[in-house]
Amino acid sequence: MRSLIDIQELSVQEIDELIEKANDIIAHPEAYREKCRYKKLATLFFEPSTRTRLSFEAAMYELGGQVLGFSEAQSSSAAKGESVSDTVRVVSGYADIIAMRHPKEGAPLVASMAATVPVINAGDGGHLHPTQTLTDLLTISREKGRLHDLTIGFCGDLKFGRTVHSLIAAMARYDNVRFVLVSPTELKLPSYIKKEILQQKGLEYVQTTDLAAVMPSLDILYMTRVQRERFFNEEDYLRLKDSYILTPEKLANAKPDLSILHPLPRVNEISTAIDADPRACYFRQALYGKYIRMALILKLLEVE
Ligand code: NCD
Repeated sequence: MRSLIDIQELSVQEIDELIEKANDIIAHPEAYREKCRYKKLATLFFEPSTRTRLSFEAAMYELGGQVLGFSEAQSSSAAKGESVSDTVRVVSGYADIIAMRHPKEGAPLVASMAATVPVINAGDGGHLHPTQTLTDLLTISREKGRLHDLTIGFCGDLKFGRTVHSLIAAMARYDNVRFVLVSPTELKLPSYIKKEILQQKGLEYVQTTDLAAVMPSLDILYMTRVQRERFFNEEDYLRLKDSYILTPEKLANAKPDLSILHPLPRVNEISTAIDADPRACYFRQALYGKYIRMALILKLLEVE
């Protein structure tokens, strides 16, 4: 039995196989409609979510399975003080696989040690978000036709943005990827990620506050929301929230085949005027999240 807590638990070959499977599901959805008949997914969401929870649920329904769960901690026994370990121990008897989101870093890992079914980390605090990363990798591979030889810019809240942390860890394993880290000084990528991933592997990266200066070099621009819920005070959030707002003017010197990604939800870091630009991939990206989660559920449930 296998869980997915950190994207680094998957080998590059396994990631490539998941992408291949998701592409096959997109091409032949009817072949998958009964694959998880009589199987149940529990979505235990202790933190708000739209895409991650609903795409997990849609994924399980499209595989012919069923779904149970809760979407806020207040409606679960966590509100009575139950531990995550006790909750998943019990839910292991009700479901075949669990997707969990929690505001505390490490909670899904703790859950995976108490559960007797696979646990998928659907986002833990400001730490990791491996299934968003699988979504992002599927998107990049469909948009660009490759996951190597790319310059990828991450812009916004690189400190608290868990999707950024997991995607950097994943992209660092493909050949000749250059990283451009654009953020306000206060929201820089945590140094443990720089040390353990970028420097450790001797990877090329640039750190800057100036998006305009690096725009022409980018193949991919991964925009992120400033993570309000992780701030200690509202003044800091208000001061930093509009540090980067992508507008059509700012794309003037971007590559014609730039791919703009965003895990969503968008607040106002991407002007809606960009949505109609063919380089805007974020709504397609959200759709791909369903297919890659279907592929992941099949893998962890060991369905042929
Ligand atoms: C992200 C998350 O929850 O970390 N959203 C998502 O899962 N698509 C990004 C965010 O909330 O900003």
